[in-house]
Amino acid sequence: MNKKLIGGATAVLAGIGLYRLISSRQNDETPAASKWTTADMPDLTGKVIIVTGGNSGIGFEAAKEFARKGATTILACRSMNKAGAALTELKAELPDAAAEIMQLDLASLDSVRQFAAAFKAKYDRLDVLVNNAGIMMVPYGTTEDGFERQLGTNHLGHFALTGLLFDLLIKTPGARVVNVSSAAHHRGSMDFDNLMYEHGEGYTPMGAYGRSKLANLLFTYELQRRFEAMGANALATAAHPGISQTNLMGHMTDRWYFKPVMLVAPLFLQSAAMGALPTIRAAVDPAAQGGEYFGPDGPGERGGYPVAVESSDNAHNESDARRLWQVSEELTGVTFGELAGVNGR
Ligand SMILES: NC(=O)c1ccc[n+]([C@@H]2O[C@H](COP(=O)([O-])OP(=O)(O)OC[C@H]3O[C@@H](n4cnc5c(N)ncnc54)[C@H](OP(=O)(O)O)[C@@H]3O)[C@@H](O)[C@H]2O)c1
Repeated sequence: MNKKLIGGATAVLAGIGLYRLISSRQNDETPAASKWTTADMPDLTGKVIIVTGGNSGIGFEAAKEFARKGATTILACRSMNKAGAALTELKAELPDAAAEIMQLDLASLDSVRQFAAAFKAKYDRLDVLVNNAGIMMVPYGTTEDGFERQLGTNHLGHFALTGLLFDLLIKTPGARVVNVSSAAHHRGSMDFDNLMYEHGEGYTPMGAYGRSKLANLLFTYELQRRFEAMGANALATAAHPGISQTNLMGHMTDRWYFKPVMLVAPLFLQSAAMGALPTIRAAVDPAAQGGEYFGPDGPGERGGYPVAVESSDNAHNESDARRLWQVSEELTGVTFGELAGVNGR
């Protein structure tokens, strides 16, 4: 397609985004008294919480709030340099925080296994696992294990991590697994005949991102069903941050429209701190139910305070969820040991 045409379309979309943001600010529907904020978080002293991708954006903001409330908070990050800088920033604000950094590259099953082993050597409980890390709309590529990069990082790495930490989650009363999805899951679909766009066949950056974010929700709901089937005192919840100002768009620097979009982005993105609220609520709100999905309360769920939101019909497809679980076990070689009795669902 002609670049000028695409440029025009992008400008129009940016304009619509701006208009919608302004209208969303004028149409704040949830009454002030019922807005859920960090003031509603319970005390987290004695709790142990892992946040994947805790060095940046939503993960960093969420980790900071968990630490502020007294949780031992582990920032699980692929770059120890970035993790160190994030920890310094966190400690500057919260000098007494029980926060630490650990290395985790979700695009490497070896790294996921090493992280799980190192974590278990140090901790004997896990109250909340926040599967937050993610990449968005990257060009086609594969992980160390040959998985398409977005599904491999956003879903399969987290699936393996959850499975490897499953025994700790099960023995920690009231434990939770939170998967961070996206409104983009609505644009995702599963195709088990070509789940990972073999050799780039049919690959589009958005399609693959949407599929990975749909997988986050299929995984959440299936995990919750399995928790219930085994009578576990644990919950699986999910969240999405609307459209928030983080480093996520940095994955698109190779796209010609990146610079103009980033110029206007601050006008229509909410802060990372606001974007972290649905994740925080999914992780620690005592009233949250298993299988609940939290997102912003503003129009189009683009911004606002966290409320329970709906996911797509595809996300509730139980047969896809069972199949994805099975395929994920086969691909990662990680089975949820404690679930053995109900794996044949
Ligand atoms: N921002 C939004 O508007 C938005 C909207 C919908 C959904 N989300 C979701 O929110 C989550 C957080 O994203 P964000 O917006 O906070 O973006 P971000 O600022 O880019 O943070 C993403 C985090 O994931 C980490 N990460 C990426 N690949 C990894 C890997 N292989 N192993 C371990 N960590 C890895 C990043 O590490 P590095 O710093 O080393 O890159 C970073 O810490 C993602 O799941 C994203 O899909 C965001």
